[in-house]
Amino acid sequence: MYASLIRRERYGRPADAFRTEVVDVPPVGRNQVLVKVMAAGVNYNNVWAAQGYPLDVIAARQKQGATEDFHIGGSDLSGVVWATGEGVQQFRPGDEVVVLASTWDEHAEDIRLGADPATSASQRVWGYEENYGSFAQFAVVGEYQLHPKPARLSWAEAACYLATAATAYRQLFGWEPHAVRPGDPVLIWGGAGGLGSIAIQLVRHAGGVPVAVVSSAERGEFCVRLGAHGWIDRRDFDHWGRLPDATDQEAMAHWLKGARAFGRRFWEVLGERRAPRIVLEHSGQDTIPTSMYLCDNAGMVVICGGTTGYNGDVDLRFLWMRQKRLQGSHVASAREAREVSALIAQGHIDPCLSRTFGFEEVGLAHQLIHDNQHPPGNMAVLVNARR
Ligand SMILES: NC(=O)c1ccc[n+]([C@@H]2O[C@H](COP(=O)([O-])OP(=O)(O)OC[C@H]3O[C@@H](n4cnc5c(N)ncnc54)[C@H](OP(=O)(O)O)[C@@H]3O)[C@@H](O)[C@H]2O)c1
Repeated sequence: MYASLIRRERYGRPADAFRTEVVDVPPVGRNQVLVKVMAAGVNYNNVWAAQGYPLDVIAARQKQGATEDFHIGGSDLSGVVWATGEGVQQFRPGDEVVVLASTWDEHAEDIRLGADPATSASQRVWGYEENYGSFAQFAVVGEYQLHPKPARLSWAEAACYLATAATAYRQLFGWEPHAVRPGDPVLIWGGAGGLGSIAIQLVRHAGGVPVAVVSSAERGEFCVRLGAHGWIDRRDFDHWGRLPDATDQEAMAHWLKGARAFGRRFWEVLGERRAPRIVLEHSGQDTIPTSMYLCDNAGMVVICGGTTGYNGDVDLRFLWMRQKRLQGSHVASAREAREVSALIAQGHIDPCLSRTFGFEEVGLAHQLIHDNQHPPGNMAVLVNARR
């Protein structure tokens, strides 16, 4: 099959890391399904895979015994079930499907003892930690990863949304009692991004009040069209990055001035002096101090990534005195994926397909994300489909 794949010697700029090659179609094991990929979604994780940082995904798999010296990325697809392995019961050849990127071992002891599979020690991300993702003519996935393709969507639309949508859904509704309630102000970093564009719509659908953070007026207007109450341009502030040492009073005062100004802007945009009950985080190092400061008393900052870095400084005084919660969140469960996909199938949430690429443009699509030059929303690559 043709695959747009990454090799270790090409790690670096995403535009150069992917190249189309011919490789064997992978074997289909028990409880697995071979899917003919019609279109693939583009996610941030293969920006990381292309760079070989923070994880060298090929070396990591080889350490676990894998023989392949290449990585086929792609953690979202729309496609057609082509063949089923022994034990597959719910799906048949010809079924049109989308795929949740989260994998786990259904026989893992923690799952058998009742753990949410998304939190299992066996949990991995298909098309990132696991090989044979969607940037190829065929992909192999576990049956439990499959969900029906929303009939109203084109192949490209159906391919672009599930990884970001399911992740945002879990962040906003998976961590009781901090699920979005009617009237809750919610701050959404990167409101025009993959996660953010879906998150705005989910908050609005639940009756919450989404406020987006963006880096251009064009992106801000995009967020408003999706249902954001308003937006903040992060370029108006300069207190980003790691916290100064807590004993450095002058530097701390400067940082606090910036964070307070950002908070005042939040009130202005919201139209009332309330803090966000939930802050949807993924930008990480540059923004987490502000997120923790701004979050309401007894509110939650829920984080699924660290685009700007992993050293997330937290002034613990804000955490304990104001009794806030800092919650990690990663992909989603099968139930969460099915629920958010149903909202999209019913037309309540737009998958926000922004741009569709040809198969030779997988590297270009990831380079645009890397450079933060991609259009608002989610992107897809055509594989076997024409649209
Ligand atoms: N753990 C999981 O399950 C999971 C799932 C999906 C994504 N993620 C992670 O979440 C992150 C975002 O993913 P995505 O698909 O939403 O990516 P995306 O489409 O690129 O959106 C991210 C947004 O972040 C904003 N941003 C960039 N630099 C920033 C900075 N210095 N400060 C604040 N905001 C900044 C950009 O918006 P503006 O420039 O307009 O502000 C950008 O649109 C990635 O790191 C990804 O790996 C994790």
